[in-house]
Amino acid sequence: MTNGASITPQTGGARRRFEGKSVLITGGAGGMGLAASRMFAAEGATVSVLDLNAEAGADLVAEMTAAGQDCFFQAVDLSKGANVSAAIDAVLAKRATIDVLFNHAGSIIVKPFHEMSEDEYDRLMDINVRSAFMVTQAVVRHMKDNGGGSIVITASIGSGKAFVYESLYCMTKSAVLMLSNCIAVEYREHGIRCNAVCPGFVKTAHGLREIDELDGLGQEWQDADLAATQVRICEPEEVAAAALFLASDEASFVNGAALYVDNGWFVKG
Ligand SMILES: NC(=O)c1ccc[n+]([C@@H]2O[C@H](COP(=O)([O-])OP(=O)(O)OC[C@H]3O[C@@H](n4cnc5c(N)ncnc54)[C@H](O)[C@@H]3O)[C@@H](O)[C@H]2O)c1
Repeated sequence: MTNGASITPQTGGARRRFEGKSVLITGGAGGMGLAASRMFAAEGATVSVLDLNAEAGADLVAEMTAAGQDCFFQAVDLSKGANVSAAIDAVLAKRATIDVLFNHAGSIIVKPFHEMSEDEYDRLMDINVRSAFMVTQAVVRHMKDNGGGSIVITASIGSGKAFVYESLYCMTKSAVLMLSNCIAVEYREHGIRCNAVCPGFVKTAHGLREIDELDGLGQEWQDADLAATQVRICEPEEVAAAALFLASDEASFVNGAALYVDNGWFVKG
């Protein structure tokens, strides 16, 4: 594996961009979502996390409580539409408002297209697309009546680039990028901005498993391909920093953007 990041993104300091803001992060107990949960809290947000992983969520609550921060966590499988409205209601019962949504929960299946089953299609569409549709819809309904807000959806470099053995994943990530674009144009008069982050390979459980599985199928992402495309693996905090920027008032006129966090890979071709 190539070396890690040399950049250390700001995680707080004098400028606390989310003071007084209620921020909801789906998938906020792991990977980039966890990095974002910590960085939002460090910048003054009251953080709410919805995530499948109850143990990681309990750890995060303990960590934030010890740091004097306020974190509400609920374990929930967001791929099941029936779970979503109750989970958002639970957040609103606790927080009264949601000012920022970072819709991050997601997963991947690495497999040749001709071997993919209908069950796998349903599963990944449910985790990546249905959950984003249901969560952002519930939050948009709230934000519309609450004077606006800011939404960031995690898409991928695979939203705009095709990858071998990732057809289904790329389909889901194109879908959520288009969802982000459509929310941006439909709700700007309601004061709601919606943007997407599009990471390359990131050093998380998801990203490392993806690289392993691709290599197992004869690709060379561990070293050669990674070096030729994004130079090194991305740190989760580098994507979280981009999501925080898009979510913040600093990005007040940024709406419908796809922010590639990939060290120039997408534009290099
Ligand atoms: N890691 C990468 O290289 C990479 C690159 C581009 C995009 N992404 C996107 O990032 C997201 C994955 O995040 P990560 O890389 O931080 O990985 P991760 O696996 O470390 O974290 C994902 C988090 O989402 C949660 N989650 C998964 N399914 C869920 C569900 N059904 N309901 C609720 N929570 C659920 C997990 O429990 C976990 O905490 C996905 O949307 C993925 O498409 C990852």
